[in-house]
Amino acid sequence: MTSRIAHPGLRSKIMSAADAAALIDSGTTVGMSGFTGSGYPKSVPLALASRIEAEHAAGKPFRVKVWTGASTGPELDGALAKANGIEFRLPYNSDPIAREKINRGEMEYFDMHLSQVAPVAWQGFLGPLDTAVVEVTGIRPDGSLIPSSSVGNNKTWLDRARQVILEVNAWQNPALEGMHDIYYGTHLPPDRVPIPLIRADQRIGSPYLACDPDKIVAIVETDSPDRNLPFDEPDAVAHAIAGHLLEFFAHEVKMGRLPASLLPIQSGVGNIANAVLTGLVDGPFSGLTAYTEVIQNGMLDLLDAGKLRIASATAFSLSPDAAARVNAKMDFYRDRMILRSQEISNHPEVIRRLGCLAMNGMIEADIYGAVNSTHVMGSRIQNGIGGSGDFARNAYISIFMSPSTAKGGKISAIVPQASHVDHIAQDVQVIVTEQGLADLRGHSPKQRAELIIENCAHPTYRPMLADYYARARKSSYGQQSPSLLTEALSWHQRFIETGTMLP
Ligand code: COA
Repeated sequence: MTSRIAHPGLRSKIMSAADAAALIDSGTTVGMSGFTGSGYPKSVPLALASRIEAEHAAGKPFRVKVWTGASTGPELDGALAKANGIEFRLPYNSDPIAREKINRGEMEYFDMHLSQVAPVAWQGFLGPLDTAVVEVTGIRPDGSLIPSSSVGNNKTWLDRARQVILEVNAWQNPALEGMHDIYYGTHLPPDRVPIPLIRADQRIGSPYLACDPDKIVAIVETDSPDRNLPFDEPDAVAHAIAGHLLEFFAHEVKMGRLPASLLPIQSGVGNIANAVLTGLVDGPFSGLTAYTEVIQNGMLDLLDAGKLRIASATAFSLSPDAAARVNAKMDFYRDRMILRSQEISNHPEVIRRLGCLAMNGMIEADIYGAVNSTHVMGSRIQNGIGGSGDFARNAYISIFMSPSTAKGGKISAIVPQASHVDHIAQDVQVIVTEQGLADLRGHSPKQRAELIIENCAHPTYRPMLADYYARARKSSYGQQSPSLLTEALSWHQRFIETGTMLP
């Protein structure tokens, strides 16, 4: 195992996870690696959770502030939240225990655009970073670090932290070396310069992370898998959504608004996004590129089929089978994948320049096209905005997709008014459900409402929406975006009171 730690001076810093966790104090801020269940530290957070439990049992308070790339795994968010050890968390969480704590008001959560975490940390807006805990694949003789299956905010955590704890994970394939592109040219205003990235397949940085060896206080050796969760087989709803989107892309190519190889694809998290990628495998498009946040199963299929030339992202988000596939064919994939820092994978300037096709999931959209990606019934956090805002506002075409209903039909995903807004109508150009697709480009609010109700709403809810809209046309305070204020959120209230949005 020590062969993964090739810097002779650093070998003396190898210690147990418990000893490393003892270097973290209560009340301090810890920047952890990890993005969508890959590349997160697997043993120091667990040891820290045990220590927190022991301190709590002894009647002593012990909590830390946790910053990450995005979601992590049960050994990090799950264990620390269960131990009641997280005082504050940013920027994205999908762990069910942490989610419950946040929704019970027992943990502060700051949900932010993923591209903004690193610059905001550099600007000093988040306060000091005490400790970085970062998983790597190996340490080279010169002390530079081979990143693991996600990059996230690691560069920033290593630069900004007062002390650094590394986990060297033998589970990570050493052939990952060379896949990463870590760009060190970001600066703070007034010294900021353009990001010199003009194609998704371009490399502009180093394959390695840099870290001052004097700041490294502990190295922990691990051999643990990422949290690779199986993907559901796409169901009829997912296939229908994918079908509408592929038809839309084909139409855009025909109209001369998209090249035949499309534009760099950004595909959000989840099963529907994955189904769209799978749909592209059999679709008519080739020479595709992806400039996105995570590489998920569908992208491997596209790469294997020779349809996708390059996938640029900040992390893997794979099922166990797919992770095994990548590990078995790493030499093939390494030339076709680039993992970058999330401030670059999600950089608004680059997304706008490349002209990404942004496809993200949503909780609900309202009849005017405002989208809620984060809050169920306006107040319960699901995950967070993730990179959806980075991509939606800056995309060439910004698309949001969802089944037209949730919870077995008791909830309509198309509502009179969104109960929380992450993406204003101006950032939403296309809405698609299994019922159909609403192309909202160039349409006024009233035209949008008609398209969304007609094309996207479930037949059970369509007449209710049409009725609401017709009455709003008659008696709204104004006729630009007609609404009945006391009724606009009544569907949500009805669900809270009765368990269904249906009367
Ligand atoms: N009302 C209430 N609950 C809803 C809902 C609605 N309108 N729509 C979805 N949900 C619930 C589902 O029932 C499900 O709950 P469960 O886990 O208890 O079954 C959960 O939200 C997830 O929904 P699912 O249908 O499985 O969709 P998904 O996996 O595609 O996730 C989002 C949808 C919106 C939660 C997800 O896309 C997300 O977190 N988006 C924000 C971040 C993002 O876009 N990242 C990508 C940027 S690169």
